[in-house]
Amino acid sequence: LENGLARKPPMGWMSWAAFYCETDCDQHPRSCISELLYGDMADRLASEGYREAGYVGVHVDDCWMERQRDRSGALVPDRTRFPSGLKSLADYIHDKGLKFGLYEDYGTKTCEGYPGSYGHLKIDAQSFANWTVDYLKLDGCNIDVNLMEKGFPEMQVELNATGRQIVYSCVWPLYLLPKHSEKIDYKYIGDHCNLWRNFDDVKSSWDSITSIIDYYDRNQEKHIPTHGPGRWHDPDMLVIGNENIDVNMATAQMTIWSIWSAPLMISTDLRTIKPEFKKILLNKDVIAVDQDKMGIMGRMIANSSNVFIYLKPISPTADLRSSFAFALLNRNTTHPFSAEFDLESVGLEDAGGYKVTNLWSGEEHGRLLPSDTINMTIPASGAVMFRAVLVDLKPKHHKIDRFLK
Ligand code: GLA
Ligand code: GLA
Repeated sequence: LENGLARKPPMGWMSWAAFYCETDCDQHPRSCISELLYGDMADRLASEGYREAGYVGVHVDDCWMERQRDRSGALVPDRTRFPSGLKSLADYIHDKGLKFGLYEDYGTKTCEGYPGSYGHLKIDAQSFANWTVDYLKLDGCNIDVNLMEKGFPEMQVELNATGRQIVYSCVWPLYLLPKHSEKIDYKYIGDHCNLWRNFDDVKSSWDSITSIIDYYDRNQEKHIPTHGPGRWHDPDMLVIGNENIDVNMATAQMTIWSIWSAPLMISTDLRTIKPEFKKILLNKDVIAVDQDKMGIMGRMIANSSNVFIYLKPISPTADLRSSFAFALLNRNTTHPFSAEFDLESVGLEDAGGYKVTNLWSGEEHGRLLPSDTINMTIPASGAVMFRAVLVDLKPKHHKIDRFLK
């Protein structure tokens, strides 16, 4: 969506994959969906280096509302869990130099049964603007999927009419799977949304992460040309820091999401995250690959049964052929994979060589010629990631020309 927003993949913190729809604040005062939870996360983002790393959004997900609209037809935040109201929460978040994200649903009800926007698009858009929302995630539960191609663009018009700059995230193509997948038109979706979810909800498991990777690999020829500044495919939240995700899996998710230039939405408890996971989320070099200004989605260029190789053109660049990030993912869940690897094998063939850096270990390999080898070991359910910058930045290659097709 060309509204001047989301020129880089959005980054922030979103509650869903860690806190879901916990509404019992008596039993779970620290983890229920409430203004305290979002305030706590805003504090952490602002005080522990996340904001400086780029994670600026605080995103409220489902279950923030009262079950009924008010007499005027407006949405009302839950009176016991958000007693100060959303404008006050937004002010708190904005005062910390952060952005405020909110969730609604295009249908008659949200996925968890709270009032949806269907029939109320205008008044809801106005509420969001009044509350100084910076980002709307509009879900697609409880509605006929045939209405979506008209409905999601309608909300974009209403948001625009408020005069407030609001990033628009559409949970839309996901609902066209599998029965209506032939209707998915990413060009059209990208004309109306800044980002969109197209596959299942992420869960805190390796199976879930790899199922998303499989879907993106399978559909990469559709995704790559329709991905870029202002219009992003969203593979869903980072589950780094959560139960069942070890350091290697976390490294792998951060690697592949960054190879894709995917939105980076942390969904874990930042009050209790362990330092080794925080370090993964805050790796500046990896984030720089994700946030690269060209915003090119990297491609899976080769795979054996368990090892998948990804390549992504990044800046600085003369012509898409100068600088790259590349990654190897080991899908084997029990055995590490060791290999001697040369740049030629991923199509980096400039005779002048490349300055290569291991982005996870920080190791500088210095200048490598295309046939020089790097020894690497990829942990089970893990990944390695490198940056390769042409030593001699004169454009004279041909190999990656067709990267975008
Ligand atoms: C859908 C979305 C999730 C989350 C829930 C909330 O499942 O895909 O990301 O927002 O709804 O109910
Ligand atoms: C290899 C490993 C198995 C399992 C599968 C998963 O076969 O030996 O333990 O991890 O890969 O793809």
